Amino acid sequence: MEAGAEATPVEFPAGFLWGVATAAFQVEGSTTADGRSPSIWDTFCARPGAVKNGDTGDPAADHYRRMPDDVALMRELGVGAYRFSLAWPRVRPDGGEVNPAGLDFYERLVDTLLAEGITPWPTLYHWDLPHALEERGGWTNRDTAYRFADYTAAVLDRLGDRVSTWTTLNEPWCSAFLGYGSGRHAPGRTEPRAAVAAAHHLLLAHGLGAEVVRSTAAENRVGITLNLFPVSPADPDSAEDREVARRVDGVQNRLFLDSVLRGRYPDDVLADLEPFGLRDVVLTGDEAVIGGTDFLGVNYYRDHYVSAVPNGKSGPASEWVGAEHVSFPKRGLPQTDSGWDVNAEPLTGLLLTLHTDYPRVPLYITENGVAYADVVDEDGRIDDTDRIAFVEQHLRAAHRAVEQGVDLRGYFYWSLLDNFEWAEGYAKRFGLVHVDYGTQRRTPKASAAWYSRVMADNGLAG
Ligand code: NOJ
Repeated sequence: MEAGAEATPVEFPAGFLWGVATAAFQVEGSTTADGRSPSIWDTFCARPGAVKNGDTGDPAADHYRRMPDDVALMRELGVGAYRFSLAWPRVRPDGGEVNPAGLDFYERLVDTLLAEGITPWPTLYHWDLPHALEERGGWTNRDTAYRFADYTAAVLDRLGDRVSTWTTLNEPWCSAFLGYGSGRHAPGRTEPRAAVAAAHHLLLAHGLGAEVVRSTAAENRVGITLNLFPVSPADPDSAEDREVARRVDGVQNRLFLDSVLRGRYPDDVLADLEPFGLRDVVLTGDEAVIGGTDFLGVNYYRDHYVSAVPNGKSGPASEWVGAEHVSFPKRGLPQTDSGWDVNAEPLTGLLLTLHTDYPRVPLYITENGVAYADVVDEDGRIDDTDRIAFVEQHLRAAHRAVEQGVDLRGYFYWSLLDNFEWAEGYAKRFGLVHVDYGTQRRTPKASAAWYSRVMADNGLAG
């Protein structure tokens, strides 16, 4: 890139949606309020060593009780859309009977957002399966997909007159392969066949849930959010590295993209996962149910740079089911506080690939963001210039794809608030707004004011 090019102004298309994102378990707290039952994450947090520092979903950012203030904060920032998730254990605590009190919270949230002119962008499942359903096999049990459709119907019944854009699942790869493969996430199982069955049943849940959303109102739109990673072989001249890249791309990306956007699993992934039972769980007609989405949510944090060198972490009990050996060598790139490479450039290629390989589906970046070790200075300010630089680089990368014709319609920063970062607990801070977990005091970081300007300018003014 030429010197000074980074200062070039960029403007996103008219009507571009600017938002912020959170998820129920990560921000709400109040895990026993109003009839909520335990989710798999509550049970997982109670398992010694599962979550850093023994952190749990309480109090998180206490959003369940501070929601009106948080919405007011969003209005002050000029947020256009709020991506949040609903907690299934609040709505159908045992997966069965509807709990009206659990829906009340989401009704208040939606009404508060609408009153402030903020578009609600709800996700139905962001990883918090009712524990009662896990006791019946969780996502390894095909029946869970049908219970998800029932849960979707209960939500639409209450909110369908006010919300028309719905997302079924967030990052089903994580639910399946981290939840049932490597066990790094709830429910913490380490069985490759279970991970593969879970992936299929999650996708089936997407299809069944989407049918419910569509049948509720003709104008409804329903999508899915995937965590997509461009994958490249560390050594392009090595057949082994290329093969491991193909397998990782298959399980991480194409398993989900092809089933949802083409209505069929890719042949090579079916073959890779045959030893783990994929063909056994796919029944006639399933792929037709799974196929179909009105938009695709893309969560982008980094790319995968893979090598076939065994590192002891791969093999069957890993999230890389079907890839015998895979390691992720470091390239000397800057690191986030999560230890992830900072690499914005592949986002352009990812969006272009989606545009070419899966044409006509509108795209939204439903998550992009970063954890850095924020420092609160003596005056109580957080001058997170590193986060600003990160977001700016990613917006520029996204915009380069827009310039080349990609139908990208929105961007959501992850996250509005510092929150519970799953197995990392509260140690990693992704927020535009700092949360003091002792007092629950919110302090907008420098990045919040910066992002507020970006949203107002519909881009980077230069
Ligand atoms: C993906 C997930 O959807 C979200 O829950 C998580 O906190 C962020 N990425 C950061 O890891």
